[in-house]
Amino acid sequence: MTADLAAVQAELLAAVESADTLDALEAARVAAVGRKGRLGALMKTLGDLPPEQRRDYGQSVNALKTAVETAIDARKARLDGAALDARLAAERIDLTLPVRPEAEGRIHPISQTIDEIVQIFGQMGFRVAEGPDLEDDWKNFTALNIPPEHPARQEMDTFYLRAGADGARPVLRTHTSPVQIRTMMTEKPPIRVIVPGRTFRSDHDATHSPMFHQVEGLVIDEASHMGHLKGCLIEFCRTFFEVADLPVRFRASHFPFTEPSAEVDIGCTRAGGEFKIGHGDDWLEILGSGMVHPKVIANCGLDPDKYQGFAFGMGIERIAMLKYGIPDLRTFYDSDLRWLRHYGFVPLDIPGALGGLHR
Ligand code: PHE
Repeated sequence: MTADLAAVQAELLAAVESADTLDALEAARVAAVGRKGRLGALMKTLGDLPPEQRRDYGQSVNALKTAVETAIDARKARLDGAALDARLAAERIDLTLPVRPEAEGRIHPISQTIDEIVQIFGQMGFRVAEGPDLEDDWKNFTALNIPPEHPARQEMDTFYLRAGADGARPVLRTHTSPVQIRTMMTEKPPIRVIVPGRTFRSDHDATHSPMFHQVEGLVIDEASHMGHLKGCLIEFCRTFFEVADLPVRFRASHFPFTEPSAEVDIGCTRAGGEFKIGHGDDWLEILGSGMVHPKVIANCGLDPDKYQGFAFGMGIERIAMLKYGIPDLRTFYDSDLRWLRHYGFVPLDIPGALGGLHR
């Protein structure tokens, strides 16, 4: 009888070992230890044995069962490992292959321009701050020294939303300047931030879009003055437009939230019908700036006798159009793939001062 069991064990183990797929192994398992398998059949013969032999025989069959099951587990682990290896080999991706040209996307000129601006001011020690598109009236206007009756409110062509429970009407921010307020209310000077983002005005023609982008700059500390403002913005204009001796002019202006205020023009020429940035006989306005008004500093809970600084704001579409020769503002938002392939930027061509800012 014992010799018999040894032969059965050898036979079942051989079947397990020769199973070369998980399906074949499962078939071998069912044939051996399944409900109608060989070991079950052996157990059924137990009743035919003389009682004194039953215990030994039962134990032997159980030992045989354990041996077969252990072999099945080991075999299964090996087949699982081999299956995983095969899958990994089949799904292998060669990360060193170049991108397929037909699968290449393009960076939108607005994103590219924001990246360039952040890069340039980043090198001067500015960090990026952001604020929400939806603002309360106080941060968009009142805290910036634009009281309810101020004419600037009308000039801004503001989109107002329905009044909330408190009766106040939220606005789609008309400029990025409310982020000046947010920053001064939450941070201790020295402050040096650059704020790119969406802005909204109810205005729509070839040179105006109801949604456009601005970038705000804010510097607040105990010593920054108009000379710093000028140096900082001249440096920005020359680096951004990649004209080392670009003429930059500061023209006295007015904003409720800065005093004194200056608009910044860059030199250009339209000689021979061709527009060019650089030396010439013409000027082009590209941004607004000024020393932050003491009232604005006080509105944010900071001491205007201790802290001072400057702010500036510019339209991103406008400087992108100038730098990259994009003639129509509305094309920025058309989602026209041919336009994007023409004016867009290669994804891995990240702006950096070293390699030049653009292609
Ligand atoms: N917020 C102004 C605008 O939208 C620009 C500006 C910002 C001017 C900061 C001065 C200082 O026109």
